[in-house]
Amino acid sequence: MKFFVDTADVAEIADLAATGLLDGVTTNPSLIAKSGRKFLDVIAEICALVPGPVSAEVTATDTATMLKEAAVLRKIAANVAIKLPLTWDGLKACKALSDDGATVNVTLCFSANQALLAAKAGAAYVSPFIGRLDDQGQDGMELIQEIKDIYDNYPDLETEILAASIRHPIHVMQAALIGADVATVPPAVLRQLVKHPLTDKGLEAFLADWKKTGQSIL
Ligand code: E4P
Repeated sequence: MKFFVDTADVAEIADLAATGLLDGVTTNPSLIAKSGRKFLDVIAEICALVPGPVSAEVTATDTATMLKEAAVLRKIAANVAIKLPLTWDGLKACKALSDDGATVNVTLCFSANQALLAAKAGAAYVSPFIGRLDDQGQDGMELIQEIKDIYDNYPDLETEILAASIRHPIHVMQAALIGADVATVPPAVLRQLVKHPLTDKGLEAFLADWKKTGQSIL
């Protein structure tokens, strides 16, 4: 499974990229607003830090203007992925951009049929939002399973399932069990993945016993 980080905080991304475990980045207009910085500058900085795809979202709602915005975003760096909303206009833009060689991430996916349309439109990634479905009393993980089953039925579809709106480590584990290709994870959740109290306790005990031996490896 590939790990993307879901943030527009460049310092966080630099820190996480240093682990060597980061395969890409996703941003959205809300995350850009939270950063308080200029969109194009932030995307350029992230693209220089992470070689993998960096999703930058259009803000137009009609295909023609989406394509104009995508042209600006694609000029920033070769690893920009154009993020488009799951609307008819977004799908039309997806088809045009994918045919033109762009990497497209179709976002705001809340149903399996939407994911099927994104794949037919040539999206490189589709982003089903798990947490937002959970928030309204649905099981977001069921959507990941449905999309996985449908895509597996049609091996010609090459779209990757990018599990998004992840809220906690169990979401990551369940998405991986189902076989989602990518999880885009908020920095705090990504950092939580390594934690287990028995790891800390075990390490403490090993180090205490090692100290008793009086030895040193170096
Ligand atoms: C994905 O690309 C989105 O930016 C993100 O995962 C949305 O998550 P949220 O529902 O926590 O805002």
